[in-house]
Amino acid sequence: MRRSYYKELQDMKELADKGIILDLGCRDARDSISFNEAGWKNVIVDKDCVALSQAVVNLKKGCESHCEDLNKFLETDDRSFDIVIANYVLPFLPDYKKSLKRIYSKLKEGGIFIGCFFGDRDAWKDSSKLTFHNKEQALKDLSAYKILDFQEIEESRRLYSGELKDWHIFEFIVKKT
Ligand SMILES: C[S@@+](CC[C@H](N)C(=O)[O-])C[C@H]1O[C@@H](n2cnc3c(N)ncnc32)[C@H](O)[C@@H]1O
Repeated sequence: MRRSYYKELQDMKELADKGIILDLGCRDARDSISFNEAGWKNVIVDKDCVALSQAVVNLKKGCESHCEDLNKFLETDDRSFDIVIANYVLPFLPDYKKSLKRIYSKLKEGGIFIGCFFGDRDAWKDSSKLTFHNKEQALKDLSAYKILDFQEIEESRRLYSGELKDWHIFEFIVKKT
């Protein structure tokens, strides 16, 4: 199930009226659409320029798009963000810990970080190119934050390609305090 982070943060009373949100590895930017509709400034980044062009179409109220490696963006952009989303992308990064540090430094005080890790019972667990976490490691990697929501999920769900996959994931919403 995809989550409506805008509504969840509203329900948690964690959402500012409007702000600036960064979606890293956004693909079609589905997680950003509700923020865009609510008038937030959207900055989206993906190394896949074709996917990014669809994201630009999906964010009807406008956005700033960057077709580049997210680490390069994090290194060179000098702004701070109210919310950073890195959903279903951290496990694909060669050095996710470096990216985590950069994300932390890009967040404003009180800023929200949304993302997920793949768990060690995921169907892709034997891939040497991906990173997998157990619960303890996942919580350790988020220890600099206040946890607002942390869910361990095991479910069968389709990939973008339509193929059914057994997922084991840790989804989180955390706050820089
Ligand atoms: C599995 S998709 C997730 C898309 C979206 N975040 C979501 O949850 O639906 C991963 C996306 O991250 C992008 N990606 C992977 N590594 C990246 C990197 N180093 N820099 C920028 N984008 C990256 C891919 O091109 C792809 O669009």
